[in-house]
Amino acid sequence: MRVLSVASEAFPLVKTGGLADVVGALPDALAPHGVQTTTMIPGYPVVGKAMKGAKVVRRWTDLMDTEARLLAGRIGDHDLIVLDAPALFNRAGGLYGHADDWRRFAALARAAADVAADGGYDLLHAHDWQAALAPAYLRYAGTAVRSVMTVHNIAFQGQFGADIFPALGLPDAAWGIDGVEYYGGVGFLKAGLEAAEAITTVSPTYASEIRENRFGMGLEGLIEARGARVHGIVNGIDPAVWNPEIDTALPQRYTARALGRRRANKRAVEKMFGLAPGDGPLFTVISRLTWQKGMDVLAHCLDMLVAAGGRLALLGSGDAPLEQAFLAAAARHPGKIGVRIGYDEPLSHLLQGGADAILIPSRFEPCGLTQLYGLAYGCVPVVARTGGLADTVIDANEAALAAGVATGFQHGDVSDHSLSHAIMRTIRAYARPDLWCTIQRNGMRADFSWTESGRRYADLYKSLIA
Ligand code: ADP
Ligand code: GLC
Repeated sequence: MRVLSVASEAFPLVKTGGLADVVGALPDALAPHGVQTTTMIPGYPVVGKAMKGAKVVRRWTDLMDTEARLLAGRIGDHDLIVLDAPALFNRAGGLYGHADDWRRFAALARAAADVAADGGYDLLHAHDWQAALAPAYLRYAGTAVRSVMTVHNIAFQGQFGADIFPALGLPDAAWGIDGVEYYGGVGFLKAGLEAAEAITTVSPTYASEIRENRFGMGLEGLIEARGARVHGIVNGIDPAVWNPEIDTALPQRYTARALGRRRANKRAVEKMFGLAPGDGPLFTVISRLTWQKGMDVLAHCLDMLVAAGGRLALLGSGDAPLEQAFLAAAARHPGKIGVRIGYDEPLSHLLQGGADAILIPSRFEPCGLTQLYGLAYGCVPVVARTGGLADTVIDANEAALAAGVATGFQHGDVSDHSLSHAIMRTIRAYARPDLWCTIQRNGMRADFSWTESGRRYADLYKSLIA
């Protein structure tokens, strides 16, 4: 079976968040089940550099009013195709947030649909709004290629004005409630959710949450209506990238049996973040600093965290007021709170390998990957009970402790009160070394590989093609 996986980012070439990790890991997750995946991404400048000398396999003279080429290459052991359209993707600034994003990602989707239809693919797998018009193009072209739409985050929908509709090159029939029209404008994600034969999202809990208006962000009615076609398949982690036994970003590698070795990594974190040694746990945060991630609430709890004997090493970037709040907390608590504003892949590995616990107080979290990396690294997750966080972390309550299965700490609401309580529970558990070590080992021994989820995607594809 040949699948074209279409997305706006893919690790290791270009990454701003978990989407890239998942798109990068899918080909290996699917290969054991007889699925041959080709990944398609835009030719941003960093991608273009990696594709020097790549073969041109197709050309468009007028793709959304511009010239474009398709380059074929490899990403690790996998097939990669890149949409090289300099007018759209070869520019300075971030991946997203350009005034013509609608044209950039409509071009990606249009090209992907052409490639899937002419290139002998059985199925197109579209990830998030940037790829979401592809199932619509396939549907209105009446091709036999099936499509799956995966929602990695329903908060990002790609909503634009009605005036762009004519430029999309879709038939008039697509302008309607069961097509691309969304609250009087064009909705990219909405269009993909209507057109795809199946919808998936990245955890079972999130799949049920987005049927409610608290999480569905306006699309809950559509999700509910297509309920039988909505599947929650939890993300895995790539063991070649996230494994403390072989991780070259760690000064000291280790296994669940030799957790004492984490100490050297902790010293390295303390040094980098200007932290004084201490008896309490060293917390970390590796995150976009946004409302979704509950970072405003965490900022309110930092004085309490330090007063209770904790320390914090934070790596992240995002909303300016949140960045300021964390920098101010670091200034108030020298030696106790260290903050790095920025994006740093190796440092994120060091933090997982050296800190004691990772804080993830998200208001919603489709899956979340940093708690999975924390579990694999013995960096105990302290998480809000929502989405994939609820599905992957076992709270250290009395029953879980008695059964010997606890892997972390959960809190119900994302409020100062709830989060403070979870931080206190973590600090108390850390003071009992045997208990702490058991929680760490439970997490490290849990299975977060792609084995089961890879099989579920493959089964879903097969059910659509049969
Ligand atoms: P989201 O995609 O919503 O941001 P995830 O938990 O799914 O959340 O994925 C975030 C990914 O981005 C993880 O791989 C995490 O390690 C990484 N990450 C987030 N912020 C940073 C940062 N400042 N530096 C390095 N890696 C980061
Ligand atoms: C999104 C979600 C995150 C998820 C990731 C990969 O960025 O916010 O929860 O882990 O996609 O699926």
